[in-house]
Amino acid sequence: GAARPRLAFLGTGYLGATYAICFAELGYEVLGFDIDAAKIGKLSAGQVPFHEPGLDTLLQANLASGRLRFTTSYEEVAEHADVHFICVGTPQRGDGMGADLAYVEASVTNLARHLKRRALIVGKSTVPVGTAEWVEQLVAKHVPAELGIEVAWSPEFLQEGFAVEDVLRPNRIVVGVKSDWANGMLYAAHKGVFDLAASEEREVPLVVTDFATAELVKVAANAFLATKISFINAMAEVCEVAGGDVTQLAKAIGYDPRIGNRFLQAGVGFGGGCLPKDIRAFQARAQELGAGEALRFLHEVDLINLRRRSRVIHLAAELLDRPAGPAGPDLSGTRIAVLGAAFKPNSDDVRDAPALAVAASLAKAGADVRVYDPQGMENARAVQPGLAYESSMNDAVAGAELVCVLTEWAEFRNADPNALGALAGAKRVIDGKNCLDAVLWARAGWEYRGMGRPAPAL
Ligand code: UDX
Repeated sequence: GAARPRLAFLGTGYLGATYAICFAELGYEVLGFDIDAAKIGKLSAGQVPFHEPGLDTLLQANLASGRLRFTTSYEEVAEHADVHFICVGTPQRGDGMGADLAYVEASVTNLARHLKRRALIVGKSTVPVGTAEWVEQLVAKHVPAELGIEVAWSPEFLQEGFAVEDVLRPNRIVVGVKSDWANGMLYAAHKGVFDLAASEEREVPLVVTDFATAELVKVAANAFLATKISFINAMAEVCEVAGGDVTQLAKAIGYDPRIGNRFLQAGVGFGGGCLPKDIRAFQARAQELGAGEALRFLHEVDLINLRRRSRVIHLAAELLDRPAGPAGPDLSGTRIAVLGAAFKPNSDDVRDAPALAVAASLAKAGADVRVYDPQGMENARAVQPGLAYESSMNDAVAGAELVCVLTEWAEFRNADPNALGALAGAKRVIDGKNCLDAVLWARAGWEYRGMGRPAPAL
């Protein structure tokens, strides 16, 4: 019943697996579903198929408790759950802009066909506004109205590397509902989160709204974050020509609480599976709805972001004294260490990763590029099989005439510039994340270039 509804999470990728495991931890009876038998096999055996701190321990504990199971059977899912969370992927479409809803359609249709009692279907995937209404019609096509199946929408705000915390201790819960029954079911399905907060004397704000708003909250939040990063990267561009230091500028504007100091780190730009894809899909959807102009600035946000990657290539050419020809700089005969491949530290995710994109561009310009990343090597190899990979930071740096730090892993931030200098062929470094101690590196004899800041004065 609604006191402790039984939950299913359809799609056990990054989102669904994390939610399934964390909600079992909160005390719910959870069934995770995926069409991928290999994924389900791994999860059932206690292995998380991706890198996320803390998740494997929770998976194993909750498998042992019996509260968490995985399946490839829609029938079993339909039988188990009162609330079904749709967590399947919504990849970028072939045209590079809109979102592909094929997985949403398949999972909802197949689930609906097997439902035999009242249940709530809740969308969690990031989708174009209007999808919840479409899902409702899809359900109506496949289930008799007497069953009383309802649809709701509840976006997620997970950050990779903090996903467990973000599910157990979210900074808000947003639900788009059409009825009191759906609202009550969703409240019950999140009661574990509210109870945990109460036990820690915190409160989790709950926003109950309509379908469209709930869908928009997610993309609006990501558009805002992307804009904040591109804003500071635009300031970095200006600092570069004006001789300013964007790191100090960010600090100074960030003291104003209306601006805030978070998400103001200039660097090689944002990447990952969400921000780049979501701002493009959001623009495409607004265009379809006739509000393209409202989001035209997001195109600029995207361009600023991509220009930061080119900036690294130009800095490399400048440091290596290779003037750019009409087709860009010729870096042939140079050896460059790229430290970082993942789109951010503590992640093995290389989707739309600026680090890997820059590594590929440097190689395309003719450089002998040696890549090292503490966690992202396997994924990087799959996406960019043509690059050379080294098994340690030292191996990548050995003999390099230029070192580019493009993901701010602690291993790189804490590296000893004297020790690395002894290995390198020449002491030149580009700090694509402004994460190194510039003065320390300069004192160790490195020619240092950051993003949007002048070379350090000694
Ligand atoms: C993001 C949102 O933060 C999250 O709320 C949403 O649910 C999914 O998308 P995530 O993709 O895990 O999460 O990464 P995040 O930590 O937000 O970083 C995104 C990118 O922006 C990274 O490439 C990061 O390096 C970059 N970034 C972040 C900056 O360049 N500067 C900053 O100040 C902050």
